[in-house]
Amino acid sequence: MASPVASLAERIPCRRREPLARWTTLRIGGPAEWFFEPARPEDLLELLDRLHEAGEPFRLLGGGANLLAPDGGVPGAVIHTGAMRRIFREGADGLRVWPGVTLPQLVRTAGELGLSGLERLVGVPGQVGGALAMNAGAADWGIWDRVREAVLWRPGRPPAACSRAEVGPGYRDGNLGDGVVLEALIGLEVSTPAAVKAAAEAILRRKNATQPVTLSSAGCAFRNPPGDSAGRLIDAAGLKGARVGGAVVSERHANFVVNAGGATAANVRDLLRRIEETVAERFGVRLERELVVWPEPGEGG
Ligand code: EPU
Repeated sequence: MASPVASLAERIPCRRREPLARWTTLRIGGPAEWFFEPARPEDLLELLDRLHEAGEPFRLLGGGANLLAPDGGVPGAVIHTGAMRRIFREGADGLRVWPGVTLPQLVRTAGELGLSGLERLVGVPGQVGGALAMNAGAADWGIWDRVREAVLWRPGRPPAACSRAEVGPGYRDGNLGDGVVLEALIGLEVSTPAAVKAAAEAILRRKNATQPVTLSSAGCAFRNPPGDSAGRLIDAAGLKGARVGGAVVSERHANFVVNAGGATAANVRDLLRRIEETVAERFGVRLERELVVWPEPGEGG
C-alpha cells in the first residue's frame, strides 16, 4: 500500500528531492524528500490534517527569508506556501490574503488601492504565513499590528479564526506554536495611492542605504536585545567582515550574515556561534537568534 505521504503526493502538487537552496534567500539547503505546493488553503488544510493523523513529520516553508535550511536536507515533508497567492478586498479597508501572498505583492497591492498601514514592510521579502509566524516587521512594529484575524490550523482541531489578543504575538515572534496560517484578514486605513507610495519609498531608501539588500541573506540574524541593537553590538565587537567559509558578517549591517558564495549551513552555524560568543565575552549580552535554524537530519529538533 502507498504511504500516506505518497498518496497525498498523487493529489496535491509535490516535487521529490527538491533542493531547498532554491527556496531560501540565503541560497542554502539540501533536498526536501517531499516538497508539497498546495495551490489553495483547502488543500493546505487537507495536507496538514492527513500528515498529522498519519504521524508524518512536516515543516512549513514560506518565502524562506528567515531560514537556515540544513545541508543534509529534510527527510520528511516540506509544505511550501508559495502557490497560494490570492488577495481579496474586504470592505473599504480590509484585505483577506492567502498565506503565500508575498510581502512585496501585499505592500504593492495595498499601495495601489490607497490603503495605508503596511509601508514598514517595504523591502521585506517573505510571505504572509511566515510573516505572521515571525511577526515580521521593522524595529518594534510587527505585521500583527495590522491583523484583524488569522484563520489558523492547529493539530487535531478544526480551523478557527483568531484575533491578535487570542494569539498573543510578541517582538519577532508570532507565538503560533504548532499553528499554521490558512488565511488572514489585514485591516488598513483609507489613504491615497500617492501618499502610501511616498511613505513606502522613504522607508525603502533608508533600508537600501543601511542594509545589504542586493546580497543573499536572511535579514537580521538576531533579535535586538531590550533597549539596544544587535547590529550595533556585533559591529562594536569588531565582527564586520568576519568569515567562516562562504558565510560573512555584512560590512554594511552587522546583524546580516550574507552568503558571499558557496556558503554551507555549517558555515553559517559556526559564524553565528562565533558572533554569540564574541558579543557575550565583550559586552555580557546573550544574543537571541531571530534566524530559524532547521536541524541537520538525525540531529532532532
Ligand atoms: N548599527 C551599527 N552597526 C551596524 C548596524 C547598525 O552601529 O552594522 C547601529 C545603527 O547605527 C543604529 C542602530 O544600530 O544606531 C540600529 O540599526 P538600524 O536602524 O539599522 O536598525 P536595527 O535595529 O538593526 C531593525 C530590524 C530590521 C529592520 C530595521 C529597520 C531587528 C532585529 N531588526 O534593525 O529588521 O529592517 O530595524 O526598520 O529588529 C529583520 O528583522 O530581519 C530586519 C532586517
